Amino acid sequence: MTEQQQISVDLGDRSYPIVIGSGLLSGGFDLSPYIGGSTCLVVTNETIAPLYQQALIDSVHDRHIETLALPDGEQFKTLDTMVSILDRLTSAGFSRDTTLIALGGGVIGDITGFAAACYMRGVDFIQVPTTLLAQVDSSVGGKTGVNHAAGKNLVGAFHQPRMVLIDTNTLSTLPERQLKAGLAEVIKYGAIADLEFLAWLEDNMPALLDKDPAALAHAIRRSCELKAEVVSDDEREAGRRAILNFGHTFGHAIERCQGYGDWLHGEAVAAGMVMAAELSGIPQGDVDRLRALIKAAGLPVVSPKIDEDAMRNAMGMDKKVRSGQLRFVLLDSLGHAVVSSDYDDAVLSRVLSPAA
Ligand code: NAD
Ligand code: GLY
Repeated sequence: MTEQQQISVDLGDRSYPIVIGSGLLSGGFDLSPYIGGSTCLVVTNETIAPLYQQALIDSVHDRHIETLALPDGEQFKTLDTMVSILDRLTSAGFSRDTTLIALGGGVIGDITGFAAACYMRGVDFIQVPTTLLAQVDSSVGGKTGVNHAAGKNLVGAFHQPRMVLIDTNTLSTLPERQLKAGLAEVIKYGAIADLEFLAWLEDNMPALLDKDPAALAHAIRRSCELKAEVVSDDEREAGRRAILNFGHTFGHAIERCQGYGDWLHGEAVAAGMVMAAELSGIPQGDVDRLRALIKAAGLPVVSPKIDEDAMRNAMGMDKKVRSGQLRFVLLDSLGHAVVSSDYDDAVLSRVLSPAA
């Protein structure tokens, strides 16, 4: 059996394990103990199905298992696609004890989790994330949902998986640009919660970019530990969980102003983290240190040139509401984030006009 590590997301009777290892899917991992009923539906997409679907099926024993391959892409993260999963479950006659298995990146995980939250008022689901972003972020914590014409992730539910199975070998086929986008979220954990991890990332960035298995395993494990700890503390984002959105206020605004699909989410968050660090008022040397790490990961450190008012609007803060309740995730020191509305608006203007 392949070596594996386990982390727990502690949520009382909804606690679940995150199992991490290299070659788990092909190495005989038995997923069956996590499947309560006699049926399961593997939901994946057309890119991932030929790569990993058979290995996943082989890791499930003594169950009736069906598969559904959705079209690939964020543009298919819609209610219509989610309904196609429900249609399949009903036509297969799957009952309330069925388990959905999400095999893919964050798009597949979010849609499948939402379908699981809705089908018969909630059935079990398992996350088998195959992108770095999904392995360190979206598969953990139970945020599920789809996009709406009015905005990203506007329709969804909190629904925790029964377990998360991370086979780091799946990253071998992941395109380099997607790997780097996932590294933005890994760096985020160091910046908001673990200065020692940030220093480790500084030392090991070349190995991570080379997909060194030991380096990836450590980065994924530490990221999952940090996320699990925050989620266990504040499952529904009543407070502290919001620190996981460090860089995201700026990043989402960049994505919205640029048009979705131009920059990857992780790329926008990368530039957004530098902006948030600048706004935080921490020593310039610490801002420069974070910027250098993001740059070393091959990620952008400067926002594309976007009009300041457009950015403010996209952040839900046009001039009329500037003195309202807007809050940012800021660093009170490198390695420690807080949610705060205590920022200098003149500095925000400077941050939003990087070329000036
Ligand atoms: P994605 O799911 O679109 O995957 C990126 C691309 O990589 C896709 O084309 C996919 O088919 C391909 N791919 C996936 N695994 C592969 C592999 N092993 N080998 C080759 N190709 C592979 O993108 P993503 O970055 O994983 O996820 C982004 C989504 O996650 C967004 O919709 C975002 O809103 C969501 N998200 C959710 C949370 C959450 O907490 N639920 C957190 C962050 C992001
Ligand atoms: N990706 C942020 C969160 O899960 O809360």
